[in-house]
Amino acid sequence: MSRPIQALIDLSALEYNLSVVRRHAPNSRVMAVIKADAYGHGLLRAAEALARAEGFAMLELNAAVRLREAGYRQTILLLEGFFDISELGWIEQYHLSTVIHHREQLAMLSASRPRGKLDVFLKLNTGMNRLGFTLDEFPAALETLKANPAVGQITVMTHFARADESCRSESITAQLQRFNTAAEGRYLPRSMANSAAILRFPETHADWVRPGIMLYGASPFADTAADELDLHPAMTVLSKIIAVQTLEPRDGVGYGHTFRAGRSMRVGIVAGGYADGYPRHAPTGTPILVNGRRTRIVGRVSMDMLHVDLSEIESAGVGTPVTLWGKGMPVDEVAQSAGTVGYELLCALAPRMQIVT
Ligand SMILES: Cc1ncc(COP(=O)(O)O)c(C=O)c1O
Repeated sequence: MSRPIQALIDLSALEYNLSVVRRHAPNSRVMAVIKADAYGHGLLRAAEALARAEGFAMLELNAAVRLREAGYRQTILLLEGFFDISELGWIEQYHLSTVIHHREQLAMLSASRPRGKLDVFLKLNTGMNRLGFTLDEFPAALETLKANPAVGQITVMTHFARADESCRSESITAQLQRFNTAAEGRYLPRSMANSAAILRFPETHADWVRPGIMLYGASPFADTAADELDLHPAMTVLSKIIAVQTLEPRDGVGYGHTFRAGRSMRVGIVAGGYADGYPRHAPTGTPILVNGRRTRIVGRVSMDMLHVDLSEIESAGVGTPVTLWGKGMPVDEVAQSAGTVGYELLCALAPRMQIVT
């Protein structure tokens, strides 16, 4: 028998969450964001479940090529575009769409001699200050693209810095205004909204929405749980108890004895540690399910194991199932306890994890 930890990917949850996107943005095309191996869920596995999306977005050229070779015919967008002129041949050959976000990319595009036409997403920096042309640079960039016979459809896009905040920030309004001002009168398709904006700001939906985290059933908001948003977790990490220890008062458990028992108690040792993708910085008290019942981890997470408090779960012993996160144990809660976000835990799933569907 192999080590009992595995990540269960629920394809129907991915499909369901796509329907939630459609419910919120019924008039927009959906560009499913499947970068970082579909946020840890597996590129081709996720693409199959999300096959009804009108497009896919990612960063990795090789992943985009794999997706096209797997037979997907919809728009496949490279969110950071290309980094070297040599990639343009691949982009053309595989009919990929590319973001253009800086002048060097415009120059490379002008210097290349593609036979066909490339569809581009021209990125505007409306306040995120990460990628994109400034409002001043935008008209000239657009003219350069329009004058290039190798450019096909141009879509204008931007990305929000603070759409995930609990109340509407001025930042969203300001970014939206800048974007609309720049795009006005251009009669080009537009794309702005990530998951948070899809869920809270319908005025940002436009022609293409770009959901990521909500497709995987996690919440983009710190103050709203995924189930309140009617999202279903697509990844559940399951393991088992592989040993049980009885601690006497003042006994410590694990490296550094960062947890000491206040009274006699049973502790379960779970096959699952930071080399599986469980966050090492998750402190004592981080929630976890043992046999479907909520308890807490105790002590420091080690490379391959962690410890759980079995004080209230008398029936638990070697072989008892444990849910690290997923169905019944929102990844966002585990992440919050560890001082991070669900995105990071999903993406950090270790290559050694056995994936089952
Ligand atoms: C440009 C762009 N659009 C959309 C997304 C999807 O964001 P989210 O996962 O918050 O929905 C991302 C993710 O970081 C992104 O970089």
